Amino acid sequence: MSITLNWAILGAGNISSQFVFDLLLNNDRKTQYRHVIKSIGCSSSVKGQEFIKNNNITAERNYNVTPVVQSYKELYANSEVDVVYIGTPHNFHCEQAVSCLENNKHVLCEKPFAVNRKEAEIIFNAAKKHNKFCMEAVWTRFFPAIKELKEKVYHEKVIGDVYRLFADFSYSGDVKNLPLTSRVRDRSLAAGSLLDIGIYPITYSRILLDDQVGQSASKFEQKSFLSIDKDDLVDHLGSIIIKYENGKHALLTSSELVDGPKAYVRLEGSNGWVEMYSDNPARAKHFKIFNKHGNEIYEYKDNSGYNGFIYEANAVANDIHGGKLEDAVMPHDETLLVMGVMDDIRKENGLVYEQD
Ligand SMILES: NC(=O)c1ccc[n+]([C@@H]2O[C@H](COP(=O)([O-])OP(=O)(O)OC[C@H]3O[C@@H](n4cnc5c(N)ncnc54)[C@H](OP(=O)(O)O)[C@@H]3O)[C@@H](O)[C@H]2O)c1
Repeated sequence: MSITLNWAILGAGNISSQFVFDLLLNNDRKTQYRHVIKSIGCSSSVKGQEFIKNNNITAERNYNVTPVVQSYKELYANSEVDVVYIGTPHNFHCEQAVSCLENNKHVLCEKPFAVNRKEAEIIFNAAKKHNKFCMEAVWTRFFPAIKELKEKVYHEKVIGDVYRLFADFSYSGDVKNLPLTSRVRDRSLAAGSLLDIGIYPITYSRILLDDQVGQSASKFEQKSFLSIDKDDLVDHLGSIIIKYENGKHALLTSSELVDGPKAYVRLEGSNGWVEMYSDNPARAKHFKIFNKHGNEIYEYKDNSGYNGFIYEANAVANDIHGGKLEDAVMPHDETLLVMGVMDDIRKENGLVYEQD
């Protein structure tokens, strides 16, 4: 049975390109999911047309549809669109997501879902009021590698009892030479490594140290340090320690100043450990399992050719097709939990945004 979903892409930038790549590759492969791109919402029609050209969004690859380039307002009013993918900086998410929901559109919104938990609640309340599906685009949770890893570690118990996780998302971004208006430095765009990339190590601790999500989550507490840059007043270096009530620890780091370790995740148990590798720690595509003697006993690699956004896009298609208003893997209360954790970390370190 095929499922058709009509998308609008709001914001013709970096991440929207990567998302669209996967939808089109999926269409090329004629899978059961028909992801049709109906509209590109963009601040400039020239830029929107360039986005279509640069990303090779042709009618042949898009079920005979050439997308229209629209202003955001026109996109909200487009009755041919089922769901909007929001790929703009975090500070815009709340207003844009609510506008989509009020105009009868489902929403898949990039991470972080909003600047703080308060804004996330506003969006979910609008979704409930208008009876629309809404999800934070935490694509990492949807990779087949994650399912396979959890099967190995928690059902087959290949590394014994799990005690500790190291997870990092760091890259050397030459931050000091970026203009203060850059998305990486501009506090009015809610810049800072915690919201931009620190959310991923937190996500790995949620995925790999707890089988539950949201309100059912196991209890944990956290302590953190963020170094706040004296010029742009946001964090580019952060460290968080989480302790679950069952005693497991997560040591989580993120930075835009230095490159991180090749094994960006290391999950340790009584009988061995797991290492995950990637050019982008959000992309869970490759892991190895070692026994306690250091011998490699298992390797998993995702060679699908997708960036990895297709997995969440297909989940959204299934949910919407099934009449669901939230996704079971990334439900509203898991977004609220993680937004609340990041609120607390910012509070602990004096990092305030105007939305607070
Ligand atoms: N899932 C992931 O792994 C991942 C990776 C990177 C980013 N993200 C998330 O995706 C979102 C966008 O990140 P990005 O790297 O794609 O950003 P980006 O390329 O800098 O910007 C995306 C779009 O947002 C709009 N925009 C950017 N700066 C703006 C400004 N100052 N004022 C008004 N509009 C502005 C523009 O829309 P127009 O095209 O309409 O002009 C731009 O094309 C962020 O929330 C980020 O956290 C997720």
